[in-house]
Amino acid sequence: MRIRRSLIDLDDLTAEEIAQVFEQTAAFEETAPGRRLAGRTCVNLFFEESTRTFTSFNMAELRLGADVVNLAPRNLSFTSKGETLGDTAITLGAMGVSVLVVRHPEAGFPQRLALGFDGHVINAGDGVHAHPTQALLDIYTLIEEFGDLKGRAVAIVGDVLHSRVAHSAIRGLSRLGTTVVLVGPEGFLPSTYAGEGVRVERDFDGVLPNVDAVILLRIQRERFVAMPISDEEYVAGYRLDRRRLGLLRKEAIVMHPGPYNRGMELDDSVLDFAGWRYARQVHHGVAVRMAVLDLLVNARSL
Ligand code: NCD
Repeated sequence: MRIRRSLIDLDDLTAEEIAQVFEQTAAFEETAPGRRLAGRTCVNLFFEESTRTFTSFNMAELRLGADVVNLAPRNLSFTSKGETLGDTAITLGAMGVSVLVVRHPEAGFPQRLALGFDGHVINAGDGVHAHPTQALLDIYTLIEEFGDLKGRAVAIVGDVLHSRVAHSAIRGLSRLGTTVVLVGPEGFLPSTYAGEGVRVERDFDGVLPNVDAVILLRIQRERFVAMPISDEEYVAGYRLDRRRLGLLRKEAIVMHPGPYNRGMELDDSVLDFAGWRYARQVHHGVAVRMAVLDLLVNARSL
């Protein structure tokens, strides 16, 4: 069995392939792509709740003409009947499944699945590790706004430590020569995050006038036991509200991977802000995922 091409994180794609994904995204948004995945089966394996990512992958697969199977964890033999993950992978491969889209609370799970699976695995979020298609749609949204991102500055704010979205975005944006400014309290953002092209800041107000975009994060309470600071302290230091929006540059935009928690990382004024790009991100997600599926399954060189 040969191990087919998978997307576990952005490192699995070359710069040329990322550019190709973005080109296809634009083309697929312009003109319906046709049945490029006709006769292929995609299985969506989601071990965590998901609204956006699950629906977005389903829509992308259906629009490409694929056959789609959604497998809930309670239906899987290896969770209750003692089958190993590797054997489950062999089984799905033997049925001729082409693509497995997998979300799991454990970092590294999609990679382990890929080792035994004769098809393509796409990571739809694994623990705190990575969420590559979210990073691609975030970067696509930024490029739509600003063109070349080299020399631009993007702030990622809040619970960076528990955010696979942030981890993939940091990797992707750094590769493009964008300055990443991480903002948050020590408990959500250890100083060790600082590195080449990546700054760590504690003072949100001081950062706002100096960035082109702000990506807000949800506090991912399901991933830790105790809040490192109180909700009140978090809101005082890091919630984006009307006053803080006033500190942004005129052309700056605000993004969020969703789901957003009103009253915590943002208040309602952000949802009315002219530069709020959440809907744009979600919109691009479908075509970005079509482009990724097309690249993995149909790329000539693979
Ligand atoms: C995120 C996730 O699940 O990683 N959402 C998403 O996929 N758009 C972020 C979160 O849960 O806060």
